[in-house]
Amino acid sequence: MPLLREKEGLELIVWPEDRECDRSWLLDNIPGATGVLATLSNKVNEEFFEIAGPSLKVVSTLSVGFDHVDLVALNKHKVRLGYTPDVLTDAVADASVMLALMAGRNAGAGVTLVKEGQWPKFNWAPFFFCGPQLSPTSFTPKRTMGFLGFGRVAQATLARLAAFGITHCIYTGNPASSPDTALEERLKEQHKLQGIRRVDLDELARESDVVFVLAPGGEKTRHIINESFLRKMKKRSILVNAARGTLVDSDALAKALEEEWIWSAGLDVVEGEPKITADHPLLKHPRCVIVPHIGSATFETRLGMTTLAAKNLLAGISGEEMPSEVEVSKYV
Ligand code: GLV
Ligand code: GLV
Repeated sequence: MPLLREKEGLELIVWPEDRECDRSWLLDNIPGATGVLATLSNKVNEEFFEIAGPSLKVVSTLSVGFDHVDLVALNKHKVRLGYTPDVLTDAVADASVMLALMAGRNAGAGVTLVKEGQWPKFNWAPFFFCGPQLSPTSFTPKRTMGFLGFGRVAQATLARLAAFGITHCIYTGNPASSPDTALEERLKEQHKLQGIRRVDLDELARESDVVFVLAPGGEKTRHIINESFLRKMKKRSILVNAARGTLVDSDALAKALEEEWIWSAGLDVVEGEPKITADHPLLKHPRCVIVPHIGSATFETRLGMTTLAAKNLLAGISGEEMPSEVEVSKYV
């Protein structure tokens, strides 16, 4: 990260590989650190803070999500937290649409079939590899896109779907607050929607043609997509998860696919990732597409994220205002 390398008076210790850093390496190197730039695969917990010691002022995570950070421990140790919202919104929205298309059109299984030399068996046939169409048709004029969580990424995903001719949107929000009618009006006008409505989980499951899971991870949202939710979904609906694996109960999803409660699933994240092996029930299912948590993985977005994370780190070290700081008091 040039921004850090060029900064005078900064002693940098950098994990040299482009893979998750070993826990033992991390714990060996954080004692006495003033700031740590972490990724979502580093558990930032009580052990981490105790080993880092009282010199630690800031953790800057290279992610918008911060469910890997124990906020209570962070707060107790008086450490600040930087994160990288906004700069990755478009990339994750692009990936969400990609997953909806891949899952709906069986692209994962299609690629496998061609690679395995099976194409000649089928050639082109009228109903070969058919899936539900994302854009509206004369047979299915009303396509409803459902969003579990309606933040930046969900709204950017909706903007892309509007170009597919989507006119109906439903979403869930915090039941403790009332729907943001100004936002609804703005989006309705901007994307020429016929309907946009905040709904409860029950209605989200029943009405959506695609459910996009785009809410934060953590204990509060764990398994929010469970058997009861999946059983209510439409038979030809699609589940997309580009948020955190923990939101979706994998066993229930495998059952939903197996027993055809839903059509397919497109997942950028999976519970228990990255330890997903060939015998995982979701991997065995042809209508489940899984990609390895690459929602924000474009050259441009990762450059934006690393730059922002470096700026957060430097600001935190010098006790200045960070470009993007998590308001920890809101969560503890
Ligand atoms: C990626 O999952 C992130 O939280 O940035
Ligand atoms: C499809 O390839 C078509 O020509 O309709």
